[in-house]
Amino acid sequence: MRRIYLDNAASTPVDPQVLEILTRTSLECYGNASSMHSDGTRAKELLEYARSGLASVVNCHPEELYFTSGGTEANNWALKGFCLANRSKGNHIIISSIEHDCILNSCRWLQKQGFIITIVPVDGFGITQPDILERAISDKTILVSVMHVNNELGTIQPIAEIGRIAHEKKVAFHTDACQSFGKIPLDAGELAADMISINAHKIYGPKGVGALFIRKGTDIEPLLHGGGQEQGIRSTTENIPGITAFVKAAEVCHSVQFEEQVRIDHLSGKLRDNLFRRFENVYFNGSPEHNIPGIVNFSFSGQEGQAIRLLLMLDEEGISVSAGSACSSNHEGSGGSHVLRAIGRDPVESRGAVRVSIGRYNTESDIEQFCDSLTRIMQKLNPIYSF
Ligand SMILES: Cc1ncc(COP(=O)(O)O)c(C=O)c1O
Repeated sequence: MRRIYLDNAASTPVDPQVLEILTRTSLECYGNASSMHSDGTRAKELLEYARSGLASVVNCHPEELYFTSGGTEANNWALKGFCLANRSKGNHIIISSIEHDCILNSCRWLQKQGFIITIVPVDGFGITQPDILERAISDKTILVSVMHVNNELGTIQPIAEIGRIAHEKKVAFHTDACQSFGKIPLDAGELAADMISINAHKIYGPKGVGALFIRKGTDIEPLLHGGGQEQGIRSTTENIPGITAFVKAAEVCHSVQFEEQVRIDHLSGKLRDNLFRRFENVYFNGSPEHNIPGIVNFSFSGQEGQAIRLLLMLDEEGISVSAGSACSSNHEGSGGSHVLRAIGRDPVESRGAVRVSIGRYNTESDIEQFCDSLTRIMQKLNPIYSF
């Protein structure tokens, strides 16, 4: 049975062109980039070539990009590293209520170090309100961090405006762009952001690789101390195969971005129309206007308690989707998704959403089969409903 993978916001399959680079670099370029012999020099050249390639995609200087082990490390570093380096200027940080767990938990850690965190609410569609955020800025504020696209809802945050506000108030701005990078335009040259986190496994690259853009002149403490790689502030032997594959994945996404997103948007529309037609109690979570193509988050009114069962039954039929987000391993305990709670859903509703995320390798037939399976399963789960 061919499985239908509709969980691309959790992670994506590796693109064959990317796999080719990953394999070739692993086999042919295994030297340590810090070694003085030719194998080391070659590895170093490849690393810097990759950095320049990524800088062209992101529109920044190559030396403003620091490779990391993924989005989690980039986000931890941006928040902890920046706050520890700048604590003499203030101790107040502002984030939104729908940030990824790695931002929320970094803030909890910073709170224990004496920092004060303000979490600004989002509206019912899952959008951060810049005017509320502006009012939360005080003379103690040193950092604002708001994600570009939310991983559960797919909502696009007004980061251009938020960055502008932060800079007007002389506060640094970080954005977690792990769900937007490669899918919608992200331009470090245009955006008023001092730090941007990105990763590879959401864009058909390998897991365990990412990068943090740090604008020149931004003070940041290292988290990893060691041999002084990455301009002395992020030590460990560079993962050249992973990095070259990441950059290839970013370049492919960049070159096909427009057409790919049009196609994915069409599939998302088809899914939404089908759900509307087939299920009278379906409702959508997120924003009809400011949503990334590809993430469709929905619930069935009065049947939210059955979302996990639904997910497992879909899995038995060979279909992978998520209930909320798969990016957190504890699945948020009994309180449900903090993102759904942030948009005003009650605890039962917050446990009851299905997230379908469509990617490069999905087809119209995947969407049709998903809708047919879902209809069958919903009839089994609740025969009294007419679908
Ligand atoms: C918005 C967002 N930020 C950060 C991460 C974490 O990235 P990584 O898995 O590369 O550590 C994820 C999901 O994985 C995400 O969706």
